[in-house]
Amino acid sequence: MPKSGTTAPPRKNPTKSAGTSSATKNSSKPSAPAAPATPAAAPSGSALEIKDTRTNKTYTVPITDDAIRAPDLKKIKTDDPDDLGLVSYDPAFLNTASCRSAITFIDGDKGILRYRGYPIEQLAEGATFLEVAWLLRHGELPTQQEYDQFVHDVTYHTYVHENFRKFLEGFRYDAHPMAMLNSSIAGLASFYPTSRNIFDETERNISIIRLLAKTPTIAAFSYRHVKGLPFVYPDNRLSYVENFLSMIARMSESKYEANPIFTRALEILFILHADHEQNASTNAVRSVGSSHVDPFSAVSAGVAALFGPLHGGANEQVLRMITEIGNVRNVPKFIESVKSGQGGRLMGFGHRVYKSYDPRAKIVKKLADEVFKVVGVDKDLEIALELERIALSEEYFTSRKLYPNVDFYTGLIYRSMAFPMDFFTVLFAIARMAGWLAQWEEMLLDKEQKIARPRQIYIGPTERQFRSKLSRAGIA
Ligand code: CMC
Repeated sequence: MPKSGTTAPPRKNPTKSAGTSSATKNSSKPSAPAAPATPAAAPSGSALEIKDTRTNKTYTVPITDDAIRAPDLKKIKTDDPDDLGLVSYDPAFLNTASCRSAITFIDGDKGILRYRGYPIEQLAEGATFLEVAWLLRHGELPTQQEYDQFVHDVTYHTYVHENFRKFLEGFRYDAHPMAMLNSSIAGLASFYPTSRNIFDETERNISIIRLLAKTPTIAAFSYRHVKGLPFVYPDNRLSYVENFLSMIARMSESKYEANPIFTRALEILFILHADHEQNASTNAVRSVGSSHVDPFSAVSAGVAALFGPLHGGANEQVLRMITEIGNVRNVPKFIESVKSGQGGRLMGFGHRVYKSYDPRAKIVKKLADEVFKVVGVDKDLEIALELERIALSEEYFTSRKLYPNVDFYTGLIYRSMAFPMDFFTVLFAIARMAGWLAQWEEMLLDKEQKIARPRQIYIGPTERQFRSKLSRAGIA
């Protein structure tokens, strides 16, 4: 349970003592919205003074947590009765906070990532994925008893309804596994109609357990479908990651024994990918979930967003790019093509938030070394290292603060574990499910949240008369 009386961390540099509140609990509910802006009414505390040069009026807008509230701008208007007030225009949310969250903290300039205050490096070193999944949702690490119960619950919900076999068998042999995962996760809603009772804590709890438990099963079934292999049912004797690997790789053996290096590597990769505050897919989950749809439908929106090459789909694209480069000799030419804009982007580089380095990429690179020590060096590692070396010394990349992100080296690790390229993003989705669910629940219990519905700046035609361009003949 979160410590009572602690406050949500400020946006910048939260200290350890400030980072323990949970927005999923009432104790940490944000305070009431700040007073709307009124001309020249100075509130106590920090504020922003805005002079509207159209009217020469001055407005004072309160600043809380280094933020102003966009609705406060609405009061800033001209005398025109049609003026609905000022809006803030921020396509792609470059500088807009959509929520107050106590789950994940990122300092992009310093390369810091923490889940509920715990540095990602420490969690990757010592935690299990399910321990992290619990932490993300509940705000505190589980006790032994809580953990055992949680592992038991997740383990015993890994089976999917037998109809799922038929559902998955309906896909083409070459279906992309992310397309299968996306529709299958959405399809789960049809099996659990009571999951629509999202404000019933028991229903929420079982839905969250089901999603954590069944996502690896559906993912593995998709993999086997594409390979033309029989589905392997979950083995309750195994850990979360071992069971997943068993459903992927088991053939005729009675009990699958995963390579412990692969098991630990995958566990670490799942931890690194478990949450990343308001990224595109989490924003999709929150936005769809804000309509109060069931959680299966909400998180399927997350899977859809993750599929894109600018987001989770980048890990697949990195390997495709490296394969296309083909030889370390071709790297300078490729880099030139990126710089000139002819060759597309350097996949696995750049990040909206990280402007020094992605702390996950550091851990992944070290992990790759450990995995390659066991299975041998990936044939394309040399190309990846050369891409990184050149990019880090070229002005084009350094001036834009483009550094390797989490996806740059993960593909090489996944390939060394014999996962096909189009399955990489599915591995990301299994892990991110933990974050999506924690963020979905936090959004749902946040009294300030409403259905997500942005404004727009209309740039289309003004009113005009309808005159059809169609021939009227044949139209009833
Ligand atoms: N290669 C070459 N140029 C790039 C790259 C790249 N990977 N990323 C950004 N740029 C350039 C971009 O062309 C622009 O240049 P200019 O100012 O001259 O127009 C400048 O850098 C800023 O780019 P942006 O598109 O405004 O940046 P963004 O914050 O909107 O995009 C990003 C972030 C991650 C989508 C982008 O860096 C990118 O496309 N990277 C490659 C795809 C990738 O690796 N995605 C995985 C992200 S991390 C894991 C995840 O989120 O799933």
